Amino acid sequence: MIIGLLKESPPEQRVALIPETTAALIMQKIDVLVETGAGTSAFSPDEAFSASGARVASRAEILERADILVQVGTPDRKLISLIAEGKVWVSQFNPLWNTTLVKVFQEKGITSFSLDALPRTTRAQAMDVLSSMATVAGYKAVLEAASLLPSFFPMFMTAAGTIRPANVLILGAGVAGLQAIAIARKLGAQVEVFDVRSAVKEEVMSLGAKFVEVEGAREDTAAGGYAVEQPDDFKQRQQQAINEHAARSNVIICTAQIPGKKAPMLISKEVVGNMRPGSVIIDLAASTGGNCELSVDGQTVTHNGVRIVGQSNYPSLMPVDASKMFSKNLFNFLGLLINDHGSLNLDLNDEILKGACITHQGQIINERVKATLQP
Ligand code: NAI
Repeated sequence: MIIGLLKESPPEQRVALIPETTAALIMQKIDVLVETGAGTSAFSPDEAFSASGARVASRAEILERADILVQVGTPDRKLISLIAEGKVWVSQFNPLWNTTLVKVFQEKGITSFSLDALPRTTRAQAMDVLSSMATVAGYKAVLEAASLLPSFFPMFMTAAGTIRPANVLILGAGVAGLQAIAIARKLGAQVEVFDVRSAVKEEVMSLGAKFVEVEGAREDTAAGGYAVEQPDDFKQRQQQAINEHAARSNVIICTAQIPGKKAPMLISKEVVGNMRPGSVIIDLAASTGGNCELSVDGQTVTHNGVRIVGQSNYPSLMPVDASKMFSKNLFNFLGLLINDHGSLNLDLNDEILKGACITHQGQIINERVKATLQP
C-alpha cells in the first residue's frame, strides 16, 4: 500500500499529513510518498518527511505509483485531469457544493472520500476535520476581530479613566461559535449569543456568555445535532432581536449554518448601517453566502465605517496546528480505510466509510450528494 501526499495549490498553506503522522503510517508498513515541498508552507520541510521514513518524490511519480492520494482541500483542474481510474482520493472537498468535481470523479471511476461528509457520530469524532477546522476558525476569527477593532476587548480601569469592555455578538454556537465565545471571553469581552438549538444554551452559559432566547425555534433530533430550516414567524422574531443586539455590538462573529444549505442571512445592510463606525463583522460562513448581506467571500468590505471580513479559510492562516489536527484526523480515517494487512478496506457497509465515500466505481455513494445531484 502506497499513500501519496500531494502539495496543495496556493494560497492553501496546510499539509494533509505531518512528518509525525507519516512516521506512524510507516510503522504500520505503509509506504508514504511526499510531493516535493508539500509541507514547506506548514513548516514541515522535505527533510523532516525524509527523516520520518517517507520518500520525497515528484508529482508524476506519486500519481503513477500511489494507491491512495491525500490532500487537504479541493484538487485543481490540472491535477484532477492527471488522476487515473481506480485511484482512491481522500481530502475535504465539500461535495455538496463542488458538484462538478463530484461528477468528474464519478466519470473518471475514481473512488473519492470527502472528510467533511463523515457522519457526526461518536465513532467518527477522531476523524472529524470539520470540528478541527472550525475550532481553528473560531479562534482566529476572534483574534482578527480584536486586532481590527479600534478599541480594547477587556475592561480597563486606569488613571486615564475606565475603558468599557467590547460587546461581542456571536451568531451560531456550534463548534466555531463555541470556540469564538471562549476566546472572546478570555480576552475580556462581554459576549451575547444567538442559536436556534436550545441544547447549546447551557454550554454557552458555562463559557460565561449570555444566551439570547427567541421562542418558537424548530428543532429536529433526527438532524444529528445540526440546525434545520426555521419557520417564517420565528425568522421574523429572531431578526428583530438580532437587529437590536447588533446595533450595540462592537464585534459580530457569524457562524450560523445549516449543512448543505445557503447560510441563513441574519445581518442586513440596514443593520450594518445602524452599527457604530469602527465595528467589525467576521463572517465565517462567507463561502456559503454569509450570515451578513454585505459579506463577500475572500474580501473585506467596508460599509458605514464597519468592516465586514469574509475570510473563508482561517485554518490555512494557522498552518502548523491546523495541519497537525487535520493530519491526526486523516490518520484515524486511514486506519479504517486500510486493514491490518495493509490492503484497502472498502467496506461500504461501514457507516463511516459509506458516509464519507462520495464516488466509487462510477457511482455516487453518499446519499445527500446523490439527492443534491438529482434533477
Ligand atoms: P456547526 O453546524 O457546528 O454550527 C453552526 C451553528 O449555527 C449551529 O449551532 C446551528 O444551530 C446554528 N444556526 C443555524 N441557523 C441559525 C440561525 N438562523 N440563527 C442562529 N444560529 C443558527 O458549524 P461549525 O462547524 O461551527 O461551522 C460554522 C461555520 O463556519 C460554517 O459556515 C463553516 O462552513 C464555517 N467555517 C469557516 C471557516 C473559515 O475559515 N472561515 C473554517 C471552518 C468552518
